[in-house]
Amino acid sequence: MPQNLTGRSFLTLKDFSPGEIRYLLDLSHQYKSLKRAGIFPKRLANKNVALIFEKPSTRTRCAFVTACHDEGAHPEYLGKGDIQMGKKESIADTARVLGRMFDGIQYRGFDQKLVEDLAKYAGVPVWNGLTDEDHPTQVLADFQTIEEHRGNVRGKKLVYVGDGRNNVANALLIGAMKMGMHYTVAAPESLFTVKPLQDWASRVARETGAVLELEKDPLKAVRGADAIYTDVWVSMGEEGKPGIQERVDSLRPYQVNAKLMAATGRADTLFLHCLPAHHTDGVHDMEVTEDVFESSASKVFDEAENRLHTIKAVMVSTMT
Ligand code: CP
Ligand code: NVA
Repeated sequence: MPQNLTGRSFLTLKDFSPGEIRYLLDLSHQYKSLKRAGIFPKRLANKNVALIFEKPSTRTRCAFVTACHDEGAHPEYLGKGDIQMGKKESIADTARVLGRMFDGIQYRGFDQKLVEDLAKYAGVPVWNGLTDEDHPTQVLADFQTIEEHRGNVRGKKLVYVGDGRNNVANALLIGAMKMGMHYTVAAPESLFTVKPLQDWASRVARETGAVLELEKDPLKAVRGADAIYTDVWVSMGEEGKPGIQERVDSLRPYQVNAKLMAATGRADTLFLHCLPAHHTDGVHDMEVTEDVFESSASKVFDEAENRLHTIKAVMVSTMT
C-alpha cells in the first residue's frame, strides 16, 4: 500500500512502521525492474543532494551517486576534512546551511546523535549512511535480496554470525523485528545485542510476531536458517582499540565456513554479507571462507547492487 514519506528523515528503521518498510521494499523491487528495462523517469530532476562521509565507503557512496544520476539529481560529495562541521562550525549551523542549498543530506560517520542533530536542524530529509550504531539503508538491500531468492521476508529465519553488537547486526535486528522475521544472533555472550535494544526488540516482537534469539553455539544457531549473514569482526574506527584483538580471538569459532553452512540442515541457505569482506586467506581465520564467499549460496553482489535501488527508493520517497 502506498505510504507518504515526503519530508521524512531516514535515521533508523525504528522510526518506520512495517507498512512503510514494506512500501520502500516494493518501490525498490519496482525501481530495479525499471532500470533493467532502461526506464529512467528522472523523478529527482533539479534536486541537489549532499553526501557527507566521515568514514570511507564504496557501495553507499556509489549507490547515492548513481541513484542521483539515474533520477536527474546532482550529488555533491563532502569528504572527511572537506567541510567545517564539528570543527570551526557547529553541527546545527552546518545543518542549517546545507538545508538552505540541498534538498537532502546523506551522513556517514561515528555518532548516531550527530545524524539525529543534522536531521533536527537541516529542514530537509537526512539519510543515515552508517553510524557506529546503525546502518538502515543496508538492511533494505539485504531484505530485497532475500525476497529475490526466497520470497517475502516475513517468517524467514535470518542468522547473524559474528560481532552481534555492531551497526549491521543492530540494523538487521531492528528490520527483522519490524518485518516479523526470526532473527538469531550467534556470538559469544560478550557480543550479544545490548540490553536496551533487546528490550526494544521484545516490545516490537509482541506486535509483529517476530522472534529474537541469542545463541552462543553457532552450529545450533544456524539450524533451519534461510540466510546466514556475517560482517567484519573489526568495524571502521575500531582498529587498534583496546580489547579488539581479544574480540577477534573470541570470534574465530564463528567463522562462516562449509561446516557452518551444512549445519543449517538445508541445501538452499543463502550467504549474505554487507561487504567489504575479509575472506580467509588460508593462513588467518577471517569471518568467511573463500569457498562459501564464492559459492552459489552467496548473494553478496546482489546485495551490493540492491544498495542502489533501495537508496533510490529512500531518496525518491522522502524528497518528492
Ligand atoms: N556495505 C557498505 O556500506 O559498504 P561501503 O562501506 O562500501 O559503503
Ligand atoms: N560493520 C562494518 C560495516 C561496513 C559496511 C563497519 O562499520 O565497518
